[in-house]
Amino acid sequence: MNAPHLTGSALATAHSTIATADLDLQGVSGAPTVLFLDQSGELGGAEFALLPLAAACKARCAVVLLADGPFRTRLEATGVPVSVLADAQVSTIRREALGLGTLRAIPGILRQIRAVAREARRYDVIFLNTQKALVFGALSRPLHRRPVVWFLHDIMTRAHFGRAQLLIVKWLARYGVDRIVANSQASAETLSALAGIPLASIPVIPNGIDAAAFDALDLPHADDRAALRRRFGLPEDAWLAGLFGRLAHWKGQHVALDALVRLPDVHLVLVGSPLFGEDAYAASLRKQAETLGVMDRVHFAGFQDDIPAWMKAMDVIVHTSIDPEPLGRVVIEGLLAGRPVIAAAAGGVLEIIRHRENGLLVQPGDTDGLVDAIEALRRAPDFAAHLAAQGTLDAKREFSLDGYITRMTETIARAARR
Ligand code: UDP
Ligand code: GLC
Repeated sequence: MNAPHLTGSALATAHSTIATADLDLQGVSGAPTVLFLDQSGELGGAEFALLPLAAACKARCAVVLLADGPFRTRLEATGVPVSVLADAQVSTIRREALGLGTLRAIPGILRQIRAVAREARRYDVIFLNTQKALVFGALSRPLHRRPVVWFLHDIMTRAHFGRAQLLIVKWLARYGVDRIVANSQASAETLSALAGIPLASIPVIPNGIDAAAFDALDLPHADDRAALRRRFGLPEDAWLAGLFGRLAHWKGQHVALDALVRLPDVHLVLVGSPLFGEDAYAASLRKQAETLGVMDRVHFAGFQDDIPAWMKAMDVIVHTSIDPEPLGRVVIEGLLAGRPVIAAAAGGVLEIIRHRENGLLVQPGDTDGLVDAIEALRRAPDFAAHLAAQGTLDAKREFSLDGYITRMTETIARAARR
């Protein structure tokens, strides 16, 4: 077995070591050591998916990030060793366009490949958690020769990626990794179609969410919720629709704003910030709210840490992605919060929500459909409560954190036995 330590690298800008107290955790004996690679320092869904997995493996793993940010702090707070391999040239490459900038970044890319290979050699298994991680983990494979697992979090179509990137992923998925795991059947199907990989060889392991964090905050009385709203600076008596997620065009916050025009008694709470350079979209949302004359009923909450509490302060959780959502952690979280959920009927959401059984589905981008669904829940609170209760049961059964960690660690162990 390889030693779970990171050495200093010329590129490393952050570093923490393993606390000795952690060494008796998670069956160190016999379990493989694993290096997790993620491109982002931001707190996106893929990073929230990695957080509990890395925490569960912390006695025998390390995380390498290709950019610094709050994700590093979160990992370190759970005792996971983290280092950052940030290269300015590589950081400028974006998913939509791979042009001249990419050519200029070639020296940086080569440096990064060598740096990743140096770290990877110290571990039994390399686990790639994002698209750029796939590129560096797969291209460095001939240098580190370790089994590589790729966790696919994306819908691999033109709705989300440029042609060049799809082409790169097609070849790396075929020849650069040993195992692929997808976050949903929807994500798996698009990769299978893109790369010609049999669907059966892309197992689906949906995210598991910690239900205890939602159960811990029990609000049996209306007063409790009013207090929560006061704490968050939200109107106590208004009917609140909460939309959770980073501000990005494909997440469709603009659809919810349009719907608000026809829902004069409803307030919209937007929880999230632009994480990946979508500041112009965030600004356009404020402008749109002003133009529509609904600014007094829209609350821009920014990024929040206490998602269970914010969700429980709402009357309904809406999800409005206009492109197929690969999975949608926020949809599962809405169910765990015990609130009725209305979600966009595409991608992985169809593996979470069953229309009129544990939530409501609306076609992506269908403003009128969203208005009707919100009105339907407002008119029938008993039905809304029934959907929410069923949703909580389903989410606890189908998206348990323990089940997720078990299946993921089994996948890593199988890869090590390659
Ligand atoms: N989230 C958060 N604070 C916010 C907004 C979102 O912690 O202000 C979390 C949210 O609880 C969820 C994740 O960010 O766990 C977003 O994941 P999702 O799969 O819904 O979308 P992604 O951003 O990965 O496409
Ligand atoms: C991605 C997807 C999101 C999914 C998350 C966790 O960021 O956009 O839909 O829930 O990964 O797998």
